[in-house]
Amino acid sequence: MAPPEHVRLVVKESLADLVEAAAAHVRAAAAAAIGARGRFRIALAGGSTPRALYPRLVDGVDWTRTTVFFGDERAVGPEDPQSNYRMARETLLGPAGVPSGNVVRWRAEDPDLDAAARDYERALTVGASAPWLDLVLLGLGPDGHTASLFPGTSALAEEGVLAVAVDVPQLGTRRLTLTYPALCGARDVCFLVTGRDKAPAMAAVVDGGRLPAARVLRRGGPVTIFCDRDAASSVQPAKQGPRETT
Ligand code: 6PG
Repeated sequence: MAPPEHVRLVVKESLADLVEAAAAHVRAAAAAAIGARGRFRIALAGGSTPRALYPRLVDGVDWTRTTVFFGDERAVGPEDPQSNYRMARETLLGPAGVPSGNVVRWRAEDPDLDAAARDYERALTVGASAPWLDLVLLGLGPDGHTASLFPGTSALAEEGVLAVAVDVPQLGTRRLTLTYPALCGARDVCFLVTGRDKAPAMAAVVDGGRLPAARVLRRGGPVTIFCDRDAASSVQPAKQGPRETT
């Protein structure tokens, strides 16, 4: 089954070309949001792949008129090497001089992660109206998770809230994550996926499977998957939908 028509694969040979294509997309989304509404609201992806992208966003986005959220966070403090916030601060927020008041960090060091999730939902919605986010950046795990929506976890069933704390038994930890209503309700969604280890999940997700990330592709709005050839290597040509390869 081909992906929905609004899902577009952008496959690039080199990582440099891939992150530049993704960065150009983010810059354009920022300009459009600020032009239309005076503000750009973006949710950053965690993990390691975005480390290649975020330095390319230091320039070309009006960060003074941008509010930065995070799609998910590990249950660690902001100085922990595992922190998605710390990774973004090192690669983007610091170098770009993003005002701290423009950054909405999960309070992931809080012993009460459920309270931290409730507070994050308030921060996402106060003074705003749906769609809460202009652009969501996401990664893809080899198991098909995205943000911290992992297979078999309770967060997948959350429909009435935008942010939750969730037990992830396969990691032996808790995570904080935006839920499908928050991710799928964004104006625009972009995935950044590289590496052969992601090829099976990419093929399953593009083919409309039941992996967590597949539901984001079926959201009914635009989704762009920026990926390298390795990550796209198992996607059947006939099942790709619109594809741009260079
Ligand atoms: C996280 C991310 C997670 C990530 C994927 C891919 O907190 O780890 O939110 O969803 O995007 O696991 O991670 P890599 O980019 O490290 O492969």
